[in-house]
Amino acid sequence: MRIAMIGTGYVGLVSGTCFSEFGVRTICVDKNAEKIERLTQGRIPIYEPGLEQLVAKNVRAGRLSFTTDLETAVDGADAVFIAVGTPSRRGDGHADLSFVFAAAEEVALALTKPTVLVTKSTVPVGTGRRVREIVAKARPELEIHVASNPEFLREGSAINDFMRPDRVVIGADSDKAVAVLRRLYRPLYLIETPIVTTTRETAELIKYAANSFLATKITFINEVADFCEQVGANVHDVARAIGLDGRIGRKFLHAGPGFGGSCFPKDTQAFVHSGREFGAPQRIVESVVKVNDERKERMAERIVAACDGSVDGKTIAVLGLTFKPNTDDMRDAASMAIIPTLQTEGATIRAYDPVGMTEAATLLPGVEFGADAYAVLDGADCVAILTEWNEFRALDLDRVAAALKRRVIVDLRNIYRPVEMAAAGFDYYSIGRPAMRSGEQGKATKK
Ligand code: UDX
Repeated sequence: MRIAMIGTGYVGLVSGTCFSEFGVRTICVDKNAEKIERLTQGRIPIYEPGLEQLVAKNVRAGRLSFTTDLETAVDGADAVFIAVGTPSRRGDGHADLSFVFAAAEEVALALTKPTVLVTKSTVPVGTGRRVREIVAKARPELEIHVASNPEFLREGSAINDFMRPDRVVIGADSDKAVAVLRRLYRPLYLIETPIVTTTRETAELIKYAANSFLATKITFINEVADFCEQVGANVHDVARAIGLDGRIGRKFLHAGPGFGGSCFPKDTQAFVHSGREFGAPQRIVESVVKVNDERKERMAERIVAACDGSVDGKTIAVLGLTFKPNTDDMRDAASMAIIPTLQTEGATIRAYDPVGMTEAATLLPGVEFGADAYAVLDGADCVAILTEWNEFRALDLDRVAAALKRRVIVDLRNIYRPVEMAAAGFDYYSIGRPAMRSGEQGKATKK
């Protein structure tokens, strides 16, 4: 089989590469000539574990290639996937669909035989129908089957998520489209991946409902964490105990500074807006968006409080800048809300992130970056852990203690145990667990 993938952003590049690994001849298309040039040389514009090797392997095997020439790429393809960006329109939370519609029209005009056109970008309900209208207008004489095939990839584990998904969703109103997509995903039959075939509208809604539900779960446990702090309870134990109920499930109950990234903030907002537009307000998700935004704003206050109420003239060592580990993505990262607030309040910020510093350097002016975690600690008044990278989980605590001016750690990801940190001589503050001061023996203290 042969496919074209329009858009070499995160979703397009990962999906295109994984399809080629499935044995499908795949041409990835992008308008950005410089990006295509770099991809052709094997240089990957995003940080995603395993992607570079997989691209190289499939390029070598002749199954994967990159081009700016959309016309040639879609010519003769069994399916064309649209995986272009759908940014939030400034201010109003609507997904901007102009790239999707432009790509659909361009593809339709270039097609030379009946083809399945698949939206992979996350798009509001009804977009597939509009794509169908656009392609029917552009090429009334040609049979173009429009389908929706949402992705559920997580940054940092996207290849595994594609190769071993919990399910594949196919939204289409023609048997031909379903048959082509089923053939493309055939390698997954072996591992008995459920394939949900449904209408386009339902498939579009599934994607938003899935992300909004997960964002709701996180926000729920974050508010429970606030409650725990007020009464000296432990949110880890709460999450574990409720999660052991199979109806609730343990995943996505890790309390933290609020969700970020390229999907949850954008998709929850778009879900809220389209819900209102269609007369079905999503009031729970509306609260989730509001609570999460406020939470991120409030996180800096915790660091200020740990520094005896003022960070003016103090140095804060920040560990982790990206919105989560194993990515260089800074979009809606907690660091983006926290660091500028601390700077405004007079703090000097020294930061280290294993892969996010290049990206962060342009987004966070005035931050001094270090070569590793220890390099930012010297003489600092407080350490703030903002991302749970593995390399922060087993720091040499004696070395940390010796380097700091004040032994204060604010751990917004709960990667350490409070009792151990107090025993190691730190005042340790985390999320939804009793704060522990240096030397305390596990006595629960209220923050
Ligand atoms: C998410 C979805 O998981 C994925 O299915 C979808 O296709 C795209 O959006 P991603 O944004 O890569 O993936 O990251 P994810 O691992 O889901 O984390 C999102 C945010 O939630 C991060 O800021 C993370 O720190 C936060 N999070 C996640 C928590 O705070 N607690 C949790 O228990 C889980």
